[in-house]
Amino acid sequence: MSDFSRRRFLQSAAAGAFVAPAFVAPRRLRSPVAIASENGVKAVELAVQRMNEGWRPVDAAVAGVELVENDPEDDSVGLGGLPNEEGVVELDACVMDGPSGLGGAVGALQSIKNPAQVALKVMRHTDHVLLVGEGALRFALAHGFVAENLLTEKSRQKWIEWREKRSSIDKWVSPEENGEHGKEWFKKYAHKTGTIHLGAVAANGDVGSCTTTSGLAFKIPGRVGDSPLLGCGNYCDNDVGTGGSTGRGEACILSNGGAFVVHQMALGKSPTDACMEAVKRVVRLTKVKRLLDDQGRPAFQVKFYGIDKSGQFGSAGLYADQFAVCDEKGARLQDLASLYDDKIR
Ligand code: GLY
Repeated sequence: MSDFSRRRFLQSAAAGAFVAPAFVAPRRLRSPVAIASENGVKAVELAVQRMNEGWRPVDAAVAGVELVENDPEDDSVGLGGLPNEEGVVELDACVMDGPSGLGGAVGALQSIKNPAQVALKVMRHTDHVLLVGEGALRFALAHGFVAENLLTEKSRQKWIEWREKRSSIDKWVSPEENGEHGKEWFKKYAHKTGTIHLGAVAANGDVGSCTTTSGLAFKIPGRVGDSPLLGCGNYCDNDVGTGGSTGRGEACILSNGGAFVVHQMALGKSPTDACMEAVKRVVRLTKVKRLLDDQGRPAFQVKFYGIDKSGQFGSAGLYADQFAVCDEKGARLQDLASLYDDKIR
């Protein structure tokens, strides 16, 4: 399909017109492409290798992120993830499969180190999209996943350190702090966010994606972020591409970031521009003063990632950072486009 007819098709799809051209034959890509957050260099490499072996993009994405879920040194995902305020690790993940249009997700899942694999099972073995908490755990156990203690000694020590100071730095907020007097709250009380998102496009143009996380460190038990919410931390549309996010999940939920990135690409934006539009949307929607720094900027990081069906990729964030990508040139880190030049935490 020419660039022009592709753009017209995507525009009509984006407008909801549902006018599919008689024949859509995406050009075969030179190589599958995978994009991820900066903790995903090995993950994108494995995802591309799996797609080269014929794996579906969503399965390749889950295989990639599993490396990070199993890594006890990454304290933002899977085993060794930082726990909630009661010292319990609760994991969130979702997957989406472009060719079938199906998705699966788990939220606040305890004791199972590979929530993305459980999300795949939800997608393939239920009529539902999202299972949470105890129900998600029972479902995982029914499918043969093994329960284990996900709190490593290193993460437990960080939790104990936080707990000893918790009287002043938990996630409970008074209505007053959410108003005029809340200014500067976020800088003082912010906690680490991590997460891995991985978007994948196969050489035939099919797409799939995945996001997995232990969520915000020391969160209130039961809190789920953007990562298990399709349309927020992860989304894909096989006619367009994939979009996802890492960083402050609350900002991504409130801006529906993942779906917004995909819609922007459907309207003809490049992945990088689509991600930057999502970043600007977060800025526009962040109004509460406790979340702003003394220059009036969001006092947190959010990053977006996108790949379109043609294999173009891009990433943008509020603050300077990097992302991982793998294509025919191999796996590497690249600078993302940032709204502000400085780095944050
Ligand atoms: N973006 C991950 C989280 O906020 O849970």
